[in-house]
This record gives sequence, structure tokens and C-alpha cells, in this order.
Amino acid sequence: LARGVTGPDLRSRHVVVSAGGTREPLDPVRFLGNRSSGKQGYALARTAAARGARVTLIAANSALPDPAGVDVVPVGTAVQLREAVLKASADADAVVMAAAVADFRPAVYAAGKIKKKDDQEPEPITLVRNPDILAEISADRVRQGQVIVGFAAETDDVLANGRAKLKRKGCDLLVVNEVGESRTFGSEENEAVVLGADGSETAVPHGPKEALAETVWDLVVERLR
Ligand code: CTP
Ligand code: CA
Repeated sequence: LARGVTGPDLRSRHVVVSAGGTREPLDPVRFLGNRSSGKQGYALARTAAARGARVTLIAANSALPDPAGVDVVPVGTAVQLREAVLKASADADAVVMAAAVADFRPAVYAAGKIKKKDDQEPEPITLVRNPDILAEISADRVRQGQVIVGFAAETDDVLANGRAKLKRKGCDLLVVNEVGESRTFGSEENEAVVLGADGSETAVPHGPKEALAETVWDLVVERLR
């Protein structure tokens, strides 16, 4: 099939997609979060299902409806996302990490709501690192031939940062897009370059998130054995 023409080329494959953004709680009513809507990850899940795959969608705090015919695993934090990804990817042919994973979480979770005091400045929030899920699954491929895809949101030096990140993460493909206040987050459209560990570079023009999703699956199918 030519690129962009979809068929059941993912039939009998299991693919795992993470989507949305993790939330790291400070106390029972507050969290550190990010602006990911989950739309790109959901588009990846829908298009993979349409191409015949069994799809596990690990959804971090997305308000979007469950796509038909997709197994949805809801998660909250990065640590929960890691558990769910490791479990689902044990028998996966491909894993796509479209979720925006918080790099840090509050070092301390306050069991009761944090209160302000009239005569005191607020306590600083101490953060600790979250596990790097993409690097972990890339370094430790459960199954030979598993194709692993990351996403990178960059604001500056987009391609150079993307190349360096692809190397650092050790994944097969990295979808690099430029983000900003009004770009990408929550939007229906996306524009990206997909970098391959083999040196390939696939530009995806500005268009619906479905179109980028189809290109990602085209590139995954080429790499599946
Ligand atoms: N990712 C992950 N685990 C993390 C952070 C990121 O699995 N703790 C994944 C994301 O899902 C994404 C890719 O790594 O697919 C790149 O995320 P990004 O935030 O761009 O990369 P970082 O290595 O966190 O670099 P930066 O310092 O630029 O945020
Ligand atoms: Ca990050």
C-alpha cells in the first residue's frame, strides 16, 4: 500500500498508545499538570484500530470519549502510567508514547489540604524526578522487533533537539513538533517531522492529527518484522 492509503496492515498486531498528560498531586485538591489534550494519542488509537490492530490506549487524564473497539486504561500520575505501559507492552508489537509525562513530581504528598497562613510566606515545593518510561522501554525491549515511538514537544532548535533526544531515548522513531502557547495543545491539527533512528526524516505538513497518526503507523508498519 502507498503511504497514506490505509488498509488492515496492522491486523493481528497489538499496539499500545499512551495519551493525555499526567497529573502529579500536591494534596487531595491540587496537582502539577500540563496542557496536553490527548487528541493526538486518541487519533493514533483510532487509526490503529481502523487498520486492524488490537489497541491498548493508556489515557492520562483525558476528557475525550473512549474510542470504539479500543481497550482504554485510565491513569493519573507518571508512576501509574509507567506501570500500565510496562504491563500492556509485554506482548506489544509497537508502543507509541504520545502522552505528556511530567518530568517531576512533588517530593511530598500532603494527605490534607495545604492551608495558607496569614503571617507566613508559602513553603517552596520540592520536586523529584519521575521515571523516564520511553527510555526504559527502549533500553529493555521485551520482544525483538518491537517498534517504539516517542513524541517530542520543542519550542527552540526543534530538529537539533529532536535528533539529540532520539539518541538519548533510544527509540526507533521520534515525532518532533514545535509547541507554543497557541500551537498544538488542544488544537485539532498538528505539523511535525518524524525522525528515524536509521537517519530517516519524514516531514508531515500542517493538517489533522489523524493524518500525522496515519504517517506514524505507515512508518511503524515498515519497521515491523
Ligand atoms: N517521556 C517518558 N517519560 C518521562 C518523560 C517523557 O516516557 N518521564 C516520553 C514522552 O511520552 C515522549 C518523550 O518521552 O514520548 C519525549 O518527551 P519530552 O518531554 O520531549 O522529553 P524529555 O526527555 O522529558 O526532555 P525535556 O527535558 O525536553 O522535557
Ligand atoms: Ca519532558
